[in-house]
Formats: sequence, structure tokens, C-alpha cells
Amino acid sequence: MAIQKVGIVGCGLMGSGIAQVSAQAGFATVVREVSPDLVEKGLKGIEKNLARLVEKGTITEAVRNETRGRVKGVTSVEELKDCDVIVEAIIEQLPAKRELFALLDGLCPSHTIFASNTSSLTITEIAAATKRPQRFVGLHFFNPVPVMRLVEVVRTIATDPAVYEEMVSFGARLGKTPVRANDSGGFIVNRLLVPYLLDAIRALEEGVGSVVDIDNSMKLGCGYPMGPFTLLDFVGLDTTYYISQIMFEEFKEKRFAAPPLLKRMVLAGWHGKKTGRGFYDYSDPANPTAMSL
Ligand code: CAA
Repeated sequence: MAIQKVGIVGCGLMGSGIAQVSAQAGFATVVREVSPDLVEKGLKGIEKNLARLVEKGTITEAVRNETRGRVKGVTSVEELKDCDVIVEAIIEQLPAKRELFALLDGLCPSHTIFASNTSSLTITEIAAATKRPQRFVGLHFFNPVPVMRLVEVVRTIATDPAVYEEMVSFGARLGKTPVRANDSGGFIVNRLLVPYLLDAIRALEEGVGSVVDIDNSMKLGCGYPMGPFTLLDFVGLDTTYYISQIMFEEFKEKRFAAPPLLKRMVLAGWHGKKTGRGFYDYSDPANPTAMSL
């Protein structure tokens, strides 16, 4: 099947990034958000990223304009009905995802392949809301999508091998390095990343080191681009907490259990960079200062 038109549901941080790389790869791209304001906000983010690429000389003005011209923002799910592939990047809640895919299943032709960008929910359970689980995969991208070079391509026991290979190729056409993963909680990256992030919080709780010293240790001692607390704030403490709950539910292992400090920070509304407070205070975004916890 020749993939020509790609639909993205959700134009937040992840959805807008996926829409951008899809358009940059030459696909006609339709991205859906629930309100015109949110569509506008997502498209503005794409325009800002493309403008930065022009400024840096990575792409020409002409390429920027062509790329932007391939992205259409919509508010109605019906407008995705003639897409060859649909990637969902909406709120990380199983009922919302199942409801969306059941709706899309009724709208789209039988050849359309469905993909979820979930980072922790079971793909099999989302796919089971449709009558096409054989044409359903996980496509897990990383934040910031235009920069991070990986996509996890997730197969379930029901995924047709030919569809799966097509999605591995699609990931490569988006400019990413696809890795193959089975539908096991957290796939590959979060299976390893989440216990590491939670362990950093436990080390802090136990007084092993301060936020800044633990961050510097992993950044300067191990060459990680961000220390664990900077990364936690970047990913979102609410998101990490939610993922850890799902993974703990799946594996019942302590390494996936959320430390009490994480739970309390989430309850207090300290969700990281996006709320201005997490392990760091972002009142001056250029110079975050560690919170005293
Ligand atoms: N959108 C687009 N481009 C961006 C960007 C964004 N949001 N943020 C940074 N960039 C670009 C910059 O323009 C710059 O491009 P050039 O090299 O072409 O100039 C490049 O990325 C590097 O940016 P900076 O120099 O400003 O900063 P940096 O060197 O610290 O890099 C970073 C920023 C890429 C985010 C880097 O710190 C990094 O890789 N951090 C780790 C991110 C990570 O681990 N992400 C995965 C999170 S887990 C997840 O997403 C999945 C999940 O399920 C939880």
C-alpha cells in the first residue's frame, strides 16, 4: 500500500511534533484537535519550529512553505476518514483512546492502518475496540519529536506481520530509527527509563544527594543530555506518575512503584516545566533553580 495521507489525532506537544515530521517527510498531513484554539496553538508550534530550521539554514524558505502547506488543522474526526495511516496522540486514558478508535473504525476504509502513540497503555486493549486489530500498531515517539531520532514500533499478537513491516518502514520514512518492540508495558524505553527516574527520586528521598548533584552526576558522569530531575520536569511529573501506576499495575514490581514524593508533588500541582514548578522552579525559565523539597 502506498501511504500518501497521514492523520494525526491530537495536536499537543507530541501530536504537533508527529504532524511536523510527517509533513517534512512529504506526506499530506491532517491533524485534529478538539477546538480551533488548540488547532491554532499546535500549528503555531510547528510554524515556530520550521522558522527555526530556516534561520539555521537547515531548510530553505521554499521547503518551509511546502512543508507547512502539507499540514491541515481540523476539529472534526470525520476529516481523517480518507487517511492511509492514523496516529493517535491524545490524552493518555484508555477509555478516550478506545472511544476514538471505535469511531475511526466506522469512518475509515478497511486499508487504513491505526497507530497509537501511547507510552504505557496496552496496545492490544486499545486495538480491541476496533474490528481491525490486525491493522493496529503502537508508534511511540519521543519528546521533542522533531529532534529525538527514535520511534518504537510496537506489535501485538494480533498485528499482521506485513502491516507491521509497513509501519517499520513508515517510521524510517519519517526520518526516525525504528526499533521493534512487543506489546509489553512501557515497551523498551520506558521499561528502562521509568525505574531509573523513580530511583533518582528515591535517592533524593533517602538523602543520597541534592537535586542538582544527582542531575550533575548523571549528566557529567554518564553523558546523559539531561539529569533525571531535569528530564522528569521535561516529561511532566503527572505523566511519569501515571506511567508508573500503569507499569506497577502490569508488573507488580517495586521498581515501577511511584515514590511518595512524586505522588505528593503531583497532588500539589507541581507537574514540572509546564506548570512552572517541579524539581526546579522555572520563574526565570532561562535559569531554573532547584526547589527545596
Ligand atoms: N522542538 C524542536 N527542536 C528543538 C526543541 C523542540 N522542543 N528543543 C530543542 N530543539 C533543537 C534545537 O533547536 C537544537 O537544534 P540544532 O542542534 O539544530 O541547533 C537542538 O534541538 C538542541 O537543542 P539545544 O541546543 O537548545 O539544547 P540541548 O542541546 O540541551 O538539547 C534536547 C535539547 C534535545 C531536549 C536534549 O536536552 C535531550 O536530548 N534531552 C533528553 C530528552 C529525552 O530524553 N526525551 C525523551 C523523553 S521520554 C519520552 O518522550 C517518552 C515517554 O514516554 C515519557
